[in-house]
Amino acid sequence: MSKHFDNAAAQWDQGDTRQNIAQCVFQTIVSRIALANTMNIMDFGAGTGLLSFKIAPMVHSVTGIDLSEKMLEQILAKNSDTLQVKVACQNIISEPLDEEFHGIVSSMAMHHVEDTASLFKTFYSHLKRDGFVALADLEAEDGSFHTHGNEGVYHFGFERDTLRDLMEKAGFVNVRFHHAYTVEKEAQSYPIFVVTANKNK
Ligand SMILES: C[S@@+](CC[C@H](N)C(=O)[O-])C[C@H]1O[C@@H](n2cnc3c(N)ncnc32)[C@H](O)[C@@H]1O
Repeated sequence: MSKHFDNAAAQWDQGDTRQNIAQCVFQTIVSRIALANTMNIMDFGAGTGLLSFKIAPMVHSVTGIDLSEKMLEQILAKNSDTLQVKVACQNIISEPLDEEFHGIVSSMAMHHVEDTASLFKTFYSHLKRDGFVALADLEAEDGSFHTHGNEGVYHFGFERDTLRDLMEKAGFVNVRFHHAYTVEKEAQSYPIFVVTANKNK
């Protein structure tokens, strides 16, 4: 699956849709979470850093996690003297980082991870006490969102109640859903949520 994203990396930022999603997800996050310049943030499934580089000026550091080296190369190419995003190319479910974060953000990556329950447990263990998650993804859809095929797509969006249950089982509290954006394509609407929650201890 990382091969699919490796092949897509160079053209990933072209067109409006992904830019619009990242901008609206960012606005939804900052309207709900008080980001601070002392915070170290993880962007899970960061891709080319569309969300990471919006968050980076507001916090101490952002680390983009991704399985696609080519996606992460796009991040490194965007780094400048004044704004940097760190990267790590590893499966944090099987190989956790030796770092705890103040918060974890993610946009449109969770549906590419088969075991959502393990992903939430992994997020929980990578957070400092009282840390937050702010995770964007598709509401449940009929499988038509990925017009180039569903290879590597393990979830056709998510039912809110199912996600809430998995997050609470992982230990998260204050689980809240917020509408962020709606992608309109081929006469269909695909709403995107941001779910926010906190580590309980
Ligand atoms: C649809 S893209 C979203 C990229 C970026 N967040 C954005 O909004 O443009 C999903 C990204 O998640 C990454 N990904 C998929 N499974 C992953 C995993 N288990 N761990 C880390 N990254 C993963 C893919 O390589 C890809 O870059």
